Amino acid sequence: MEMHARIDAAVTRAIAAGQGGTAPAQLSEALMYACTPGGARIRPTILMSVAMACGDDRPELSDAAAAALEIIHCASLVHDDLPAFDNADIRRGKPSVHRAYSEPLAVLTGDSLIILAFETLARAAPRAPDRALQLILTLTRQSGMPHGICAGQGWESEEKIDLSAYHRSKTGALFIAATQMGALAAGQEAEPWYELGARIGEAFQVADDLRDALYDSDTLGKPVGQDDLNGRPNAVAVLGVDGAIKRLKDILSGAIASIPSCPGEARLAEMVNLQAERLTPVVDPVRARV
Ligand code: IPE
Ligand code: IPE
Ligand code: MG
Ligand code: MG
Repeated sequence: MEMHARIDAAVTRAIAAGQGGTAPAQLSEALMYACTPGGARIRPTILMSVAMACGDDRPELSDAAAAALEIIHCASLVHDDLPAFDNADIRRGKPSVHRAYSEPLAVLTGDSLIILAFETLARAAPRAPDRALQLILTLTRQSGMPHGICAGQGWESEEKIDLSAYHRSKTGALFIAATQMGALAAGQEAEPWYELGARIGEAFQVADDLRDALYDSDTLGKPVGQDDLNGRPNAVAVLGVDGAIKRLKDILSGAIASIPSCPGEARLAEMVNLQAERLTPVVDPVRARV
């Protein structure tokens, strides 16, 4: 099965486990609404690519890991769009969950998805308990406090923000989870894969800041100019457009060099190159807006 289809099938299967029976209909529906159709699915794509580069000898575990990671990401977006955070009306080109359903249902959708993500890993555990335990610990570390997405979002309530800690936990954390969980699902050590995930994550955040400053809402399928509007620290404000693009290129060139040696190293380098091309913004259309 093609990788994108494999990821989508794993996500859909995992969400179906949280639906049905006598469950409340709108909340059931909102779980799927929040996760399908997906966005770029970049995190599970990286996870699967690393798992395949390491042999992918337990594909059911790679599927569970990819689904859990993407579901956590979708949950973070549902909560991030709420009025208490970014108050965003659109996500992935359609009304955000609190606009389509309601605020209480959006809070519950995010909560349910977070729980479902860990349940997905626990369900995959009986056939490979040691690997599954490491997968669960890795995902908790990169989602919660003190280093995960919760920490990242928490920085926005501080008076003084450490930009690199903010970015590393808000965005970088799930990319570290992506490379490490891919390796763990295939029975490899997680530690050597930290640097690749951290570098891709850092590049991704700089690219996202550039897109937020430079692109329009139709192109991105979500509100733009949000960092400025919400007074969020971001790479464009700190480095300027040219400085941020230079920073992006520097980080990406280091990412390829940091790929640990593994059987599928060459193909993995190709995948990172491809993602790097996708991340690098086209500057021209943009300048008009800045
Ligand atoms: C958006 O992530 C949130 C950030 C961390 C900046 P993506 O750009 O990966 O969102 P989707 O999943 O493709 O919609
Ligand atoms: C979202 O960050 C990152 C999360 C951890 C949810 P942003 O608020 O910068 O991303 P977008 O622009 O809404 O996708
Ligand atoms: Mg936000
Ligand atoms: Mg946001």
